[in-house]
Amino acid sequence: MAKRIFSGIQPTGTLHIGNYLGAIRNWVDLQRQAECIYCVVDYHAITIDVDPKTLRSASHSMALDLLACGVDPARSILFVQADVPQHTELAWILSCVTSYGDVARMTQFKDKSEKQEFVTAGLFTYPILQAADILMYRADGVPVGEDQVQHLELSRRIARRFNSRFGEVFPEPEPIVTKGARIMSLADPTSKMSKSAGEAHYVGVMEREASIRRKVRSAVTDVGLAPGETMSPGVANLFLILDIACELVGDATTVAELRADFVEGKLLYSRLKDTVFERLMDVLRPIQERRAKLAASGEVLDILGDGARRATAIAEETMSDVRRRVGLGSSDVG
Ligand code: TYM
Repeated sequence: MAKRIFSGIQPTGTLHIGNYLGAIRNWVDLQRQAECIYCVVDYHAITIDVDPKTLRSASHSMALDLLACGVDPARSILFVQADVPQHTELAWILSCVTSYGDVARMTQFKDKSEKQEFVTAGLFTYPILQAADILMYRADGVPVGEDQVQHLELSRRIARRFNSRFGEVFPEPEPIVTKGARIMSLADPTSKMSKSAGEAHYVGVMEREASIRRKVRSAVTDVGLAPGETMSPGVANLFLILDIACELVGDATTVAELRADFVEGKLLYSRLKDTVFERLMDVLRPIQERRAKLAASGEVLDILGDGARRATAIAEETMSDVRRRVGLGSSDVG
């Protein structure tokens, strides 16, 4: 079992149910069994063009979303990445033990760079910053969705390479991936649900009920079966969302009933969709209510300030060890 957990999320865009069902619900669960450190990764956000006028408020807003989902500042450290600038220092040092070829293999860079007119070097080296985030806290478990698993492999390679050159400093972090690690788009169930694909593709955790109902009702169901498949990707995705939502609200019977009807060929997709909508709202409604209360209380800045202080204490300890082992600077001070 992992002893120290680290994970991060970008502040740009809306928190969607892919993020929540694939990763954030595990962030929340893991708080009961490990020391957890969670980060809103604003340095990662600037790898593509973001409006500087909105970035800080986006970071605050994402922190509020995470708190509403159940990240508990009494149990975990929650902070904004750039409040601990040591992350960029470690990223530089790690980039000097990372092979160019390893970074060039990252498939997410290929996908993301195709969508950009101006492809930054930061977008390319981003997975090294991600490794620095994790290794800074010597985390051994990282709850993520499936799209981050390749980045975690790279983080492990970087940890091994650093340790073999400079001595055992970093544990090799393992991804913690559960059911829901790849929630698909409702409008195109052959591609991953994502913030960037456009409104119709995702359901926001804080989205209004009427809009969620509309999106679930218009989810693409049968897009044709691939050879050997018994369920189309759209229907499978709705069942997956339903399955996790039922689990979260302690409903042990509905999924089995609907599955049985599906197998017998008597499941109306309208019923499936209505049930998905209802269970999803059972999960999201209390989160949305907590979000409203937290926003009104104005305590997020204090929580992030405290998180940054606690994260900095750990980061500074790691960095003085790293600087000394690598031989950087003129003395042990600073
Ligand atoms: P980000 O901000 O894109 O996504 C946050 C988390 O949500 C998961 N996720 C999904 N899970 C299931 N189905 C989906 N459709 C789906 N879409 C997103 C992601 O896998 C992720 O766990 N590079 C990271 C942020 C990061 C990070 C880190 C993560 C920076 N440093 C260190 C872990 C550890 C990212 O862009 O996630």
